[in-house]
Amino acid sequence: MDAQWVDVQMIEDKEKSAPAEGLSRRAFLDKSISVIGWGLVATCLGAGLYENIRFLYPSVVFHPPSRYIIGPIQDFIGGGNPDQYGVISVDTRFKKDHRFFVVREKNRIYALYARCTHLGCTVNWFQDLNIFKCPCHGSEYHSHGHEFAGPAPRPLDRHYITQDSEKRITVDTAMVYSQQEFEKQKMFIQLS
Ligand code: FES
Repeated sequence: MDAQWVDVQMIEDKEKSAPAEGLSRRAFLDKSISVIGWGLVATCLGAGLYENIRFLYPSVVFHPPSRYIIGPIQDFIGGGNPDQYGVISVDTRFKKDHRFFVVREKNRIYALYARCTHLGCTVNWFQDLNIFKCPCHGSEYHSHGHEFAGPAPRPLDRHYITQDSEKRITVDTAMVYSQQEFEKQKMFIQLS
């Protein structure tokens, strides 16, 4: 076969195939644009849907419960002689988990908040010394919660306490009363 004829044939073939290649490149470009376009539409729709769902379920901050049924009143009225402040016993069972003490006096029961009134450390009860002591800066309180040593500026606060129809005691740790408010509002369970 003549070499010149082969070259001409190749050029013709190339020219014939050129429009086909151009077309496939355009088609590819069209397809890409279409995919990107639909992707954007889907993203916008998704964002709108997400916002609508968020609107239906607004953000809520959940707080742990603050009311505790601590038991039947019989569990807190054991016998004993009152100390010089009128306190018969200090129940420490709720200090670790709920940060309060249950104090039994001759004629009433109340919940002492175990938070030091100086800077808020948790006070401990010392049965042998009959006092509360703060481990941070040494404040000390008598059995009825009145401060007598260290930097504490006032008596320990108290919590809301009540008794239901089944004679069970409930303490609400979200409700805090100063010692004066506690007396004024009679925030204790009166024993007959
Ligand atoms: S926090 Fe209790 S004495 Fe300072």
